[in-house]
Amino acid sequence: MTSSPIRTLVAVDHMIDPRTVEVIVDDPKINVVGVVDQEAGVPGTDAARADVMLVVCGAGSQGALEFVSAAVRERSGQPVIVVCAGSPNGFIRDVLASGADDIVLIEDHPTPAPETYFAMHKALARRSSAPADDAHGSFVCVLGPKGGIGKTLTAANLGVSLADAGYSTVMVDLDLQFGDLGLALGLQPERTIYDLATSGGVLDAGKIEAYLTEHPSTAKVLLAPVRPDQAGVITVDFLKDLYEALRATFDFVVVDTPPGFTPEVIATIDAASSICMIGMLDAPSLKNTKLGLETLQLMGYSMDRIRLVLNRADTSVGISHSDVVAVLGRAPDVLIPSQREVVRSINAGEPIVLASKRSEPAKAFRALAELYVSDRTPADTTNSRGRKLLRRG
Ligand SMILES: Nc1ncnc2c1ncn2[C@@H]1O[C@H](COP(=O)(O)OP(=O)(O)OP(=O)(O)O)[C@@H](O)[C@H]1O
Ligand SMILES: [Mg+2]
Repeated sequence: MTSSPIRTLVAVDHMIDPRTVEVIVDDPKINVVGVVDQEAGVPGTDAARADVMLVVCGAGSQGALEFVSAAVRERSGQPVIVVCAGSPNGFIRDVLASGADDIVLIEDHPTPAPETYFAMHKALARRSSAPADDAHGSFVCVLGPKGGIGKTLTAANLGVSLADAGYSTVMVDLDLQFGDLGLALGLQPERTIYDLATSGGVLDAGKIEAYLTEHPSTAKVLLAPVRPDQAGVITVDFLKDLYEALRATFDFVVVDTPPGFTPEVIATIDAASSICMIGMLDAPSLKNTKLGLETLQLMGYSMDRIRLVLNRADTSVGISHSDVVAVLGRAPDVLIPSQREVVRSINAGEPIVLASKRSEPAKAFRALAELYVSDRTPADTTNSRGRKLLRRG
């Protein structure tokens, strides 16, 4: 990857104010080599030598979707990034389905140039680089399309299981407005991701360490902001640097996310070596989990890097295991039963893998941790304390 400015061909739709375009590309690392009207069609690769096509459009624009499909087809596999103004309701999915590499939303961001650059840089890096470096720690993004389905429960128990087995582990609470990973772990938020993001200076391992809270299991935790209004300072660029530093330092990085595909969640998916997709045993949750899996597929995420967890899997709701497999197109990797002890452990701030080691949910979470250990290359299944993860319970 070169660090010289990215030669960018911008295609604008008529609903976009030219001043908006100026703001979007106002970054010395973006070199605009031409601006074209989307209605004039896709220029050939010879007509404008560019590294990336940047499509700027209003949300829901059918013309932009057609332009993106044509650009993907006709511009020799060159990355196509979409910058979308307005409320994206369902448009993200359509944009990714049309073949775009990434989408940047500018609804709430008056100066999104760094995000535009980051999306383009990432797409170029994906094209040019080899698969992820296995010397780095594993990075698990815990994902779920709905609220209240067990993402935080899973992140907390997965992180603690890995730490308890001797792997150096950091958890990040990316539920930036209503994060409760700290509560599930019984930790007080003295320093949070907000304090780190506003501290200024270089973001290196030593600096980050000072903002982590240690759990008795030895897991470190970067807690969510204490107030929802603090969430806005956490940018996608900041997260990219943070994740890079954490992966270089820890055996495992486990990120708990809010529901849905926000720009921060998409950045986390991009950084992840594996996804932990949570579903729950009811029809709306299964439908949304399927949509989530399809969205990941459209984003180019390989299905064999996704672990599927079915929470409350023993609930008697008239949905059989074969119904689940039929809807999701695959069997879940781990089934978590529904138990009152789980609720008690959350209320007590002690993850069930520690509070009730022999319970069925604890065994299931340890089995999930073992899957992630086995996903690592044989050479690095030995943890930083030189011990292998052992099945207990
Ligand atoms: N297997 C289970 N057994 C019993 N209760 C459960 C189980 N899974 C989840 N719950 C209950 O559901 C609540 C919500 O779980 P959790 O906070 O992990 O969901 P979430 O997906 O992180 O939600 P949000 O998106 O709102 O952050 C828990 O506090 C607990 O009371
Ligand atoms: Mg949660």
